[in-house]
Amino acid sequence: MQLIDGKSLSKKVQDFVKSEVEVLKTEQGMVPGLAVVIVGDDPASHAYVSMKEKACKNVGFYSIAHKMPDTITQDEIIAIITMMNNNPHIHGILVQLPLPSHIDTNKILEVIDPKKDVDGFHAYNVGRMVSNLESFVACTPLGVMKMFEEYNIELEGKDVVVVGASNIVGKPMASLLLNKNATVTITHIYTKDLKQHTLNADIVIVGVGVPSLIKEDMVKEGAIVIDIGINRLDDGRLVGDVDFEKVSSKCSYITPVPGGVGPMTIAMLLQNTLISAQAFAQEKAELNEAD
Ligand code: GUN
Repeated sequence: MQLIDGKSLSKKVQDFVKSEVEVLKTEQGMVPGLAVVIVGDDPASHAYVSMKEKACKNVGFYSIAHKMPDTITQDEIIAIITMMNNNPHIHGILVQLPLPSHIDTNKILEVIDPKKDVDGFHAYNVGRMVSNLESFVACTPLGVMKMFEEYNIELEGKDVVVVGASNIVGKPMASLLLNKNATVTITHIYTKDLKQHTLNADIVIVGVGVPSLIKEDMVKEGAIVIDIGINRLDDGRLVGDVDFEKVSSKCSYITPVPGGVGPMTIAMLLQNTLISAQAFAQEKAELNEAD
């Protein structure tokens, strides 16, 4: 069994982003900027946003967090996003999800300029991703793809089962795998017999937020298991959706929690924001040339 080390791969990506930021600063006088919008006081969301802000600082980005009470109206959120769309110092806009129930999440996500949609949640980018065109891609599934690449895990022709069908993880994950010619099954809460699917899979990818959902008798010998779950147990321990102790001995590769997919999500957010800033810099340079 080999552990897929998300922590060290994330560091490698972040080091690369940091060096590219230096290039942008010296050659273009430009600093990549990320704006984060967070509504309400959910402690987990605030913890994620703090991690994102810290990571931005580490690589030399400009970052700003708009923290708003959950009494805010949809129009007020739209006004803030519009301001960020028009701010030339901001190259990435991220709205931390979930939003309070009185806000229409899809409406909010569609206000973000697709060129600044570093979370890849705008329907424009989702559509391009599904069509296998260049696009911003949601950070967690993109991080998983980066892990496969780093560990030379071939996807073509593999039977992959994705457990969870959210817009943030499961659906984009399945699209990216399909683009690499994997045979993909998406399972979810209404799936009749989860084990019947996972037991036949070469690769199982799970992200539903249920501790120990994937048990030893649900994966085949030599399977690759990617655990996207992050759950805090009553005793304070952080665990994924896989019964790691028992499942890991059957796997050829497995991601730990913590230290697996989690750090990759942040690394991909930084990478996407860098790519956005580079595209804006390029656009600016071309405009100057045309003058
Ligand atoms: N909430 C849970 N995961 C994510 C994510 O990747 N991006 C955003 N914006 N919100 C989330």
